[in-house]
Amino acid sequence: MKSKVGKRAETLLTHSGRHPFDHFGTVNTPVYRASTLLQETVADYKRTKGPREPRYGRRGTPTTFTLEDMISDVEGADGCILASSGLNAVSLAVLSQVKAGDHVLMADCVYGPARNLANHVLTRMNVTTTFFASDIGAGIADLFQPNTRVVYLETPGSQTFDMQDIPAIARVAKAKGAVVMTDNTWGTPLYFKPFEHGCDISIHAATKYIVGHSDAMLGAVSYTAEMEESLRNMAGWLGVYASPDDIYLGSRGMRTLAVRLAQHQKSALEMAEFLLSRREVDRVLYPPHPSSAGHDIWKRDFTGGSGLMGVVLKPVSDAAVASMLDGLELYGMGASWGGFESLILPANPSSNRTAAPWTEPGQLLRIHVGLEHIDDLTADLGAGLDRLQMAD
Ligand SMILES: Cc1ncc(COP(=O)(O)O)c(C=O)c1O
Repeated sequence: MKSKVGKRAETLLTHSGRHPFDHFGTVNTPVYRASTLLQETVADYKRTKGPREPRYGRRGTPTTFTLEDMISDVEGADGCILASSGLNAVSLAVLSQVKAGDHVLMADCVYGPARNLANHVLTRMNVTTTFFASDIGAGIADLFQPNTRVVYLETPGSQTFDMQDIPAIARVAKAKGAVVMTDNTWGTPLYFKPFEHGCDISIHAATKYIVGHSDAMLGAVSYTAEMEESLRNMAGWLGVYASPDDIYLGSRGMRTLAVRLAQHQKSALEMAEFLLSRREVDRVLYPPHPSSAGHDIWKRDFTGGSGLMGVVLKPVSDAAVASMLDGLELYGMGASWGGFESLILPANPSSNRTAAPWTEPGQLLRIHVGLEHIDDLTADLGAGLDRLQMAD
């Protein structure tokens, strides 16, 4: 690809990061396995080098740079650093921006282990955190302290799919001199562009849709130019690293991100309609669906939706929920999401909420709508809801 300018996301996904004629004509950048990287001369060894001329395998190889460039190009970032997992990326992003005595503002709906970082790691550094309700918008101004350094967001949020008004929050944060970072795993680099909405840092559990096949752990932190030095320094100090084989799987997965996500979204919208047609269902938590809370913000800020959603059931017994879930044929029960396959889990956000307690009496289920035929998925889930009815 001679120039990225004006190229659409699908084209960038296909061509970014590839340099076949630097690699024997191979279409994909090969897996470079490396610890030692030899330098040819003393002068070369001593020369000050940029991030793309590492002296050691931990700092990356062309395998690493391929995926970093793909994510940056598609998301509209100035750069990207890969990490060993999504949680490793969360830690890198936060730790790169705080020092002892600082204060962090964190959305109440973030992925649970991000709260652990605040409650168990930042506290040891004398960094305090205030959790805020996701619908705070510009009202976040009232929570700023003179030492507030970071605003940490995740939209839609884990399990409850709360949308945050990122542009409104980012405007306040900018005026107060704080860094805005968001976990963009659900939106992916394709469907939400954090840097166009005022964010400085975007975090991905690439384990999910970027890898896309449930067979590798990977994280990514993408950023604007002003964040480069602090992030690269912290990545170096902490030894943040991702394995070349997992990165290769991430690059390979990302080439098909657009077609996979289009199908996830189509099926997820049909799934939402199906669920809402059932009397056992109270409501669906899926911002791309017009019935869902946060739909207006999603419509304004996002260009698509992925396959992860929530459904709140009308109150039933735990045994009824178990008989529904235990008999499902096509839905795996397991953590993570973003692979080709469908998943379902009973969720309980109440232990991870302090600013906006979760008080729903009905069971919340988290569903990942995979790439199976939607009619097979709804038939299986419909039979499960019939079992739920009978068992209650
Ligand atoms: C929104 C979100 N962020 C981060 C992570 C962490 O990613 P990983 O499992 O790759 O550490 C997850 C994992 O479930 C997640 O759902």
